[in-house]
Amino acid sequence: MPIASTTGHGSAPGKVILLGEHAVVYGRTAVAVALDRHVRVNIVSAVSCDEAKTAPRRDCGEGSTWESAPFPVTLFAPIESEPSPELQRLRKALACAAGYLRLDPSPLALSVDTDLPMAVGLGSSAALSVALVRALAAVAAFELDDTSVCNAALEVEKLFHGYPSGIDNTVATFGGMLAFKRGQPHRQLNAACALPLVVAVGRLPRQTQAGVLNLRGRWQREPDRYEGWFDEIDWLAGTAEGAIANGHLGKLGGLMNSNHRLLQQLGVSTPELDSMVDLARAHGALGAKLTGGGGGGAVICLCPDSRDELIRAFAAAGWNAFTTDLHPALRGEHAGNLPAPSRDYRDLRA
Ligand code: PMV
Repeated sequence: MPIASTTGHGSAPGKVILLGEHAVVYGRTAVAVALDRHVRVNIVSAVSCDEAKTAPRRDCGEGSTWESAPFPVTLFAPIESEPSPELQRLRKALACAAGYLRLDPSPLALSVDTDLPMAVGLGSSAALSVALVRALAAVAAFELDDTSVCNAALEVEKLFHGYPSGIDNTVATFGGMLAFKRGQPHRQLNAACALPLVVAVGRLPRQTQAGVLNLRGRWQREPDRYEGWFDEIDWLAGTAEGAIANGHLGKLGGLMNSNHRLLQQLGVSTPELDSMVDLARAHGALGAKLTGGGGGGAVICLCPDSRDELIRAFAAAGWNAFTTDLHPALRGEHAGNLPAPSRDYRDLRA
């Protein structure tokens, strides 16, 4: 298929899983929300490749992963010298997405930039996959509906995660706050208010692929025990839907705490993540838990009061943290333009 346009742009938001990671791989419900931070992909086709080649180039340094590299990263195709493994992975992602859309990737140059912390369980690879598919579709002047974008991005996600449940690419495509169960259409959730969150990033990257694989081994050895824990997480996620709909933040926080305890039992937390969760609760968070694959990565803390104090406490302990108001109206590509919340979370604590 010939390329119709010289440039294409796509963007997609990161996400947090409020409840249900890992259990979602085993067919249980998880609740996730788009972040107001994005991965943006620009693609330039051969026509203006010469122009692209004169632009300043920044490669991933030795030993870094593309996910932790300083952005923007620019990848040229064809690549003149031997690329790092991480750039090869990015190139494979481009080839995979292009193949899915029946496009020839060889005349394409790609640049990525983001304000989303990478490789910490905030859905960066899914956001990249969705943004890549959207940018390619724009270059080829394809009208892709969101379901097609989501399906194509899942194929790209498999390069990064092996056997993803599909929750990350679904949130990155559709945005908003949603309940996801494997094999069923996702459900958009309505929330009574934006959720006041602090996201704190640990020193180690999350280990999603290894975590999912190791958990599978434990589940195979003791299926009844692990199925019981997955059922408990499923119940927490279902109960959380009601708490979110009614703005019962105290209840939601308690459910998040219970979910973290179960994630510890599943063996996907770490001493560092547990310390971060303890620190958040000691500084007034109503609930705190790891988010995403675990084994490293980030924690989320539901914190209607004293968020600045909590950020300072994280900084004093050596952890970066940021605040975000998870908003039910954050939708896909347009997640940057938010309407004001209809109600304030401060009136809604339970
Ligand atoms: O670490 P992340 O952001 O890719 O989240 C992974 C979520 C899991 O439930 C652990 C895996 C999955 O595919 O659902």
